[in-house]
Amino acid sequence: MCGIFGAVSSSKIQNSLIEGLMKLEYRGYDSAGISVLSNTNKIKRIRCIGKVNELKKQLKASKIVGECGIAHTRWATHGEPNLKNSHPHNSNKISIVHNGIIENSDELKAKLLKKGFKFSSDTDSEVIAHLLADSFSKNNNTKNSIRSVVKQLEGSFAIGILFEDMPDTIIAACNGSPLLIGIGDNCNFISSDLHALTSKTKTYMPLNDYEIAFIKKNNVDLFSLTGKKITRKAVKTKQKDKTVSKNGYKHFMQKEIHEQYDIVNDAIKSHIGAKGLLPNIFGPNSDNILKTIKHIHFVACGTSYNAALVAKYWIEEVSDIMCTAEIASEYRHRITNIPKDTLFVAISQSGETADTIYSLKKAKNSSYKSILAICNVPESTITRLSDLVYLTHAGPEISVASTKAFTSQLIALLFLTMILAKYSKNKTIGKSILKQIKTLPTVLKKTFLLEKKIKEMAKNFKNKHHALFLGRGASYPIALEAALKLKEITYIHAEGYAAGELKHGPLALVDKNLPVIGLMPENNLVNQVLSNLAEVKARQGLVYIFTNKKLKLKKNEKTKIITMPSCGHFTAPLVYVIPMQLLSYYVALQKKTNIDQPRNLAKSVTVE
Ligand code: M6R
Repeated sequence: MCGIFGAVSSSKIQNSLIEGLMKLEYRGYDSAGISVLSNTNKIKRIRCIGKVNELKKQLKASKIVGECGIAHTRWATHGEPNLKNSHPHNSNKISIVHNGIIENSDELKAKLLKKGFKFSSDTDSEVIAHLLADSFSKNNNTKNSIRSVVKQLEGSFAIGILFEDMPDTIIAACNGSPLLIGIGDNCNFISSDLHALTSKTKTYMPLNDYEIAFIKKNNVDLFSLTGKKITRKAVKTKQKDKTVSKNGYKHFMQKEIHEQYDIVNDAIKSHIGAKGLLPNIFGPNSDNILKTIKHIHFVACGTSYNAALVAKYWIEEVSDIMCTAEIASEYRHRITNIPKDTLFVAISQSGETADTIYSLKKAKNSSYKSILAICNVPESTITRLSDLVYLTHAGPEISVASTKAFTSQLIALLFLTMILAKYSKNKTIGKSILKQIKTLPTVLKKTFLLEKKIKEMAKNFKNKHHALFLGRGASYPIALEAALKLKEITYIHAEGYAAGELKHGPLALVDKNLPVIGLMPENNLVNQVLSNLAEVKARQGLVYIFTNKKLKLKKNEKTKIITMPSCGHFTAPLVYVIPMQLLSYYVALQKKTNIDQPRNLAKSVTVE
């Protein structure tokens, strides 16, 4: 799961490569590297452990320059994040960068070892370099060589290749991992995503699975795996080149948490008119399609999956529609039953999550009524593949820990709930949801007033090793999301549980050191959650209750109550997640972890 960038131009490209990589660093930051073809057509490579900034320093010192080059930022899959495993990988006159996983690399490596090739890394990617070197040495036809290598690769890959015998050319191929070709003026590019291209060019074309491209500064030749020439028109993106700053905040995560008020407010303003929800907000003709839907399959990963779980609670409460919410890495590999009139909904911040993309591709080949993407990134792979698209317009989310993407997904899903309610058993509930949505910005404003209190509370978590979050109903996914946030950026082991499950096992973990956080928006489940928390208190656990219901409980050393602003039943998940995000942020601040780029993670998970 890595970022690839490449450039071929009539002027020096090494700085462009660094700029491109910096924009792709969200895909991984274990190591970085570049290869350029020098003016004598020799491959010059430079690699470093860690971030692109380090590579930038080393590149400056090395004085390496060139007009054709490839670059890579790595998220380690095969092999530790060390120098020898950093990309590019070289073999003879070849240098390659790879994103994805070569599933048959062991098999290919064994064959290459027998032929005398020496491996200098533990990666699956290095086989590509040696296969190419082997093939090029035997075959004078570069196109045929690369075709034969690509045919041998199993798994997912986006590859950028430099070959000393093909000066001024980047060769690219992909299957299952996205790769775009940017078309500039006397300068062309390859990039894992559009975001890294827009400062260079607004014109691009996606490389499709099993296509091979030969990219020169003024020309792009595309071929299929059978060697057939492909003609493709480049398209123009509407995306602007945005440099995102922290705007005075200490971290992107803090800034993004605070942006949620505006994002929710904007979503409401742009989708709700005088008569309620505007028509077809999920895409052309979407209202007519939604009218006929009987089932929904939500598929997503991580935070986006937690948003899907909330939607399942909402939609089943207000309509006759049966919903399932499933983790994409599970969905994609199992046999699924698809009842008639089922809508498939992929939820993704990035639009590039590999498991979600594979699931969506599977769904496209199945009998779904329609495929809807709820996504933050326009022109991403997921939006390109979907019939219907709702863009969440949360703006670039830089922090690896997802915050504003989640609330922007929830508001979209609440809009979807309203539409489905209108066509279903409860015709009036939509009005009540609308009322709650309209007051949401004010409630969110009040929620942010708790920030100081939560900052104080975070001090109690600094030395904790475990934490438990409990909720029932639509607060259960918020408990999952709270636990995901805490573990992701503080490295404290945290679990989210449906409160009723506590007694079925996790209660064994409770002792005087375990903080248990109960999420209790005022609803018919409050008493049940209180009973579950009583089980914790009876075992000396530390209880933190977030609620907007007036409780008769006594606060004491072991029980803290954080009074939330009152909010609607349907909007509660959007409100209760805010203090959870703030809690994780301030605990991480206490623990001095790398908040925006936590260890071992990447913003966009582009491998299986
Ligand atoms: O871009 P996506 O929404 O598809 O990403 C899914 C997950 O990788 C993502 O939500 C991840 O769990 C976040 N780092 C959580 O904060």
